[in-house]
Amino acid sequence: MKNSLVELHCHILPGIDDGARDLDMSMSLLRREVSDGVVGVVFTPHFHYERITVEKFVELRKAAFRQVAAAVRTEGLRVAGKLGAEVYYSTALPSLDLSKLAFADTSYILIEFPTTIQPPGIDETLFAIRAQGYTPILAHVERYPFVAEDPTLLYNWVNAGCLAQINATGLIREGHTSRWLHKLLDWNLVHLLSSDCHHPEKRPPNLREGFDHLPPAVARRLQKNAIEVYLGNEFRVPDPTEPKYRFGHWV
Ligand SMILES: [Fe+2]
Repeated sequence: MKNSLVELHCHILPGIDDGARDLDMSMSLLRREVSDGVVGVVFTPHFHYERITVEKFVELRKAAFRQVAAAVRTEGLRVAGKLGAEVYYSTALPSLDLSKLAFADTSYILIEFPTTIQPPGIDETLFAIRAQGYTPILAHVERYPFVAEDPTLLYNWVNAGCLAQINATGLIREGHTSRWLHKLLDWNLVHLLSSDCHHPEKRPPNLREGFDHLPPAVARRLQKNAIEVYLGNEFRVPDPTEPKYRFGHWV
């Protein structure tokens, strides 16, 4: 199991969101995951409560999953899969049936925020979701300008029991995002690494490469965390450090 990876955030299911457009593309993404050493995948198509009902989403997701599961069997690909969703943030989330949106057989639920402005009510909404027994996984936390401006927001959400996920691409590309991600890692504000793949070329599965850009001990910890999430186990995370603003920089 040393080199086994688990993918917790991807858009591999066919024809359901802006990810794989058909089964051929799904299978080419999945083959790439398997060649990266991925042994378990949570399929997380976008769910936006203003655009689709939970019931309809579940129906479409099931049909897409069946196609992939049949193709995996036919091809003999050695990978396990379960259903999840990437749930778009809304203050209405606590009133929905979150059991259908959480990762199957777990209490983990992947939530994304808008990548523009900070929406209202995040603290209260996350609290209400936690109160229902779910653990929010905050998707690609490196992508939110309001978190970059004030990382103590993320510190507070982590302290309140949320987990933070980052995308491999941010680590792989040298630059501002990768430097920022290493700061978040140093503050223990990152728990999970995923690929968030959508497309074989434009947004490819790159989990192995992402892990290769982490210090080995951090890579091992994040790898293990992902396995625990997949299995629905709880696990301890290191205490986060509160970022401090000093002379124009977060340190
Ligand atoms: Fe995504």
